[in-house]
Amino acid sequence: MLDKTSPSLPRGMRYENQLAMIEGMSLADIAREYPTPFYCYSQSAIEQKMQACLKAFEPTGAKVHFAVKANSNINLLRLMAKAGLGADIVSGGELTRACTAGIAPADVIFSGVAKTDNELEYAMHKGVGQYNVESIEELHRINTIAQRLGVVIDAVLRVNPEVDAGTHQHITTAKKGSKFGIAYSQLDSALQTAATLSSINVRGLAMHIGSQITSLEPYSQSIQRMLHWLEQLQAKGFAIDRIDLGGGLGVDYGNGEYLEYSDYAELIQASFANYQVDIQLELGRSLIAEAGILVSSVVSTKQSSPNNFVLLDAGMNDLLRPSLYQAHHPLLAASLSTSARPETFDVVGPICESTDCFHKNYPMLRPNTGDLMFFTVVGAYCSVLSSSYNSRTLIPELLVNGENVRVIRKAWTIDEQLKLEE
Ligand SMILES: Cc1ncc(COP(=O)(O)O)c(C=O)c1O
Repeated sequence: MLDKTSPSLPRGMRYENQLAMIEGMSLADIAREYPTPFYCYSQSAIEQKMQACLKAFEPTGAKVHFAVKANSNINLLRLMAKAGLGADIVSGGELTRACTAGIAPADVIFSGVAKTDNELEYAMHKGVGQYNVESIEELHRINTIAQRLGVVIDAVLRVNPEVDAGTHQHITTAKKGSKFGIAYSQLDSALQTAATLSSINVRGLAMHIGSQITSLEPYSQSIQRMLHWLEQLQAKGFAIDRIDLGGGLGVDYGNGEYLEYSDYAELIQASFANYQVDIQLELGRSLIAEAGILVSSVVSTKQSSPNNFVLLDAGMNDLLRPSLYQAHHPLLAASLSTSARPETFDVVGPICESTDCFHKNYPMLRPNTGDLMFFTVVGAYCSVLSSSYNSRTLIPELLVNGENVRVIRKAWTIDEQLKLEE
């Protein structure tokens, strides 16, 4: 999804007269009005990606749900709702967000390994369309609540296909012994249990094998396993008509590795050609990651032999993925310069933790204090993971549409934080 005319810039961005632009605005102009650090999204990049996604999966008949956990800003969810996407949620809070954004509860999938009774009750009051059940214990719990409320709910069983998704160990979810899903050795007994429960209608099977997956192979393996179980279960008389394939498609974090929607769609179409089932997808990262940047200013450089440091005003509390998953987010200058020779720097933030490091030995031109820089591909799993650690301001989020810049999440200042503690 990188722009071919400027290989290091995501779609929706370009350099114009040496200045980085997001849609019709230069970052320099935006930063004159909004102090750094801040998240900034391109509305057209989000809309284009959603349309590309819907187009690619149309031949499969799959219903696309946005995994709200990737970025739950209500204004971005409204864009998803407008495009007709459903929502995949993992908490009562995400359900409130999805509904407030205008996504119909019937188009909501409730995932999550430890849904509480309160959350389940809330979801049933709202009329959530599907519950992805993670254990036999949960089947009983859901049934008891549904019975008490006098409703019958639709569910699918999330199975652990026991494949290695080939991704970072912290975002793989389908290895044997994982906390996620029902072990397939228990699948039969889960379905037999479900058949005895009057308030749960088990409609199908679900999988989610991990995130940032850049090869079709693990998908192909897990789909084959799902089809094998589907056939066995149908032969035993279980009425199964839904398969939820989860999410996980990888995006390009600068190394050129990612999965194309069209390639995955082809795999799905070929695999399910002879089966009468409705397909569902729960996509997060691939829909939103590339549309976001994090703009930060250089506080200073620092020489501390043998290392050169660039100290930024953004820290791990604003962008946690590098410390949490050793994630790589390319860092670029908001103003291009060709005069200097690249050096290598460790790029770090101000937080009192050694893990507050975004890049080691990163080749870049020596910046000056006050220079604007920006991290790319931060639209997913970034602002949602940000915090006010070290009593810092929770940074704002901006949405750019052409030349219009809108604050879509205000900064949460120290004064506002203190009010909650009095
Ligand atoms: C159950 C479930 N579905 C969907 C997703 C979305 O995954 P991704 O953002 O990689 O598409 C996740 C995230 O890990 C998840 O846990």
